[in-house]
Amino acid sequence: MLPAFRYHLWTIGCQMNEADATRAAALLETVGGAPAPDAPSADLLLLNTCVVRQQAEDKIHSRLRYVAELKRRRPALLVVLMGCMVGANPDRLPALRAQYPFVDLFLPPSDLAPLRDLLSAAYPASAPPVPEDLPVLPPSAPASTVLAHLPAVLGCSHACAYCIIPYRRGPERSRPSSVILREARALAARGVCEITLLGQIIDRYGLDLPGELRLSALLRAVAAVPGIRRVRFLTGHPNWFTPDLLDAAADTPAICPYFEIPAQAGSDRVLAAMRRGYTADDYRRLVDAIRARLPSAGLSTDIIVGFPGETDSDFAETVRLMRDVRPDMMRIAKYSPRPLTLSARTMPDDVPPDVKETRRLELESLLRDILTEKHAAWTGRTVEILVESLEPNGRLRGRTPDAKLVFAEGAPTTVHPGDLLSARIRWAGPFSMIADA
Ligand code: 5AD
Repeated sequence: MLPAFRYHLWTIGCQMNEADATRAAALLETVGGAPAPDAPSADLLLLNTCVVRQQAEDKIHSRLRYVAELKRRRPALLVVLMGCMVGANPDRLPALRAQYPFVDLFLPPSDLAPLRDLLSAAYPASAPPVPEDLPVLPPSAPASTVLAHLPAVLGCSHACAYCIIPYRRGPERSRPSSVILREARALAARGVCEITLLGQIIDRYGLDLPGELRLSALLRAVAAVPGIRRVRFLTGHPNWFTPDLLDAAADTPAICPYFEIPAQAGSDRVLAAMRRGYTADDYRRLVDAIRARLPSAGLSTDIIVGFPGETDSDFAETVRLMRDVRPDMMRIAKYSPRPLTLSARTMPDDVPPDVKETRRLELESLLRDILTEKHAAWTGRTVEILVESLEPNGRLRGRTPDAKLVFAEGAPTTVHPGDLLSARIRWAGPFSMIADA
């Protein structure tokens, strides 16, 4: 059967955006869409957008200029703009329509209902009918798909001073655990072995649903789905990270001891201005508690450099915090003012760009030093990796439970993506390791 239409999907941004894009692709394929190799050969273009920093927005604008040109040459091309540039608030639509008249449909983040309506209107002959329960993976996804993201908490109601997400993804809504577990089983049936539960503040899972499971119980339930070998979750907020999560990771081998808990800054003055709701010492105590319970736990953190008013001594506090907690990963962003946010409305973006860049580089090199030193002890160690893929050079790519990236050599050819493999580290760099299977 010839496909009813060809679609091309372009996405940037966070894991939640990747999950939204995967679901949109799954929907398109259930009505007869097939992936096109590139934008010019597609009948439908779907752009999934991110606005968390100005840099992301700039990328979308340049992409949209290209799409406008394609649409000018081929008016039958359907253009769908999706995600955080659109946002969940319909009040934004008139302005968006005026700014991007060539866009056929504006789709809020994590909400595919309008796309479903557009598809049934544009392709009435397409079969099969769109199911109410969206497939979790597009049929075109490779059979060897090992990892999947599963949204558990949509939106965010926290309103950190710098963050645009609450304005674009709407208020916090947990999805019922029955739906999440049904999707986890569907993913496992497609061969997925590792599920990462997603939420802007994932450790608040269920607090908005009376009688719902807490995150630790949900993690255990997902880990119990036949075929699921590993479960992860992100992103944690320090104030909601409770000891039961550590118990779950300690007593359930499939729950990975790897925690993504952004600190954002190490100066109490900056943390207060950010409205984060904790101090640097609170964060230190949390990391101490994690390491006391789970000595092998990995820690990932996000840091914003150059928040309004951040002085050299504020930044020195961030460096000190990072030296103390020695994270296993750091995602460093330079502050950029976002529309409507408290900081953009009330605080001048007063740290010069070159100072932001210097601070970013300093943290980047600190992370490299921390990891080089930490990983020196890894040589000779035997680790378990979940094989994600076979690299062109014959190595197997995978990660340890605490998310270290490992390339394994010499495994028997019977080992496939999705298998757990034991391997001995031969070389350990800051960001990847080589092991003998
Ligand atoms: N400027 C820079 N970085 C930001 N982040 C969120 N908002 C901003 C902003 N306005 C960063 C935070 C968050 C990550 C996803 O993006 O560190 O954890």
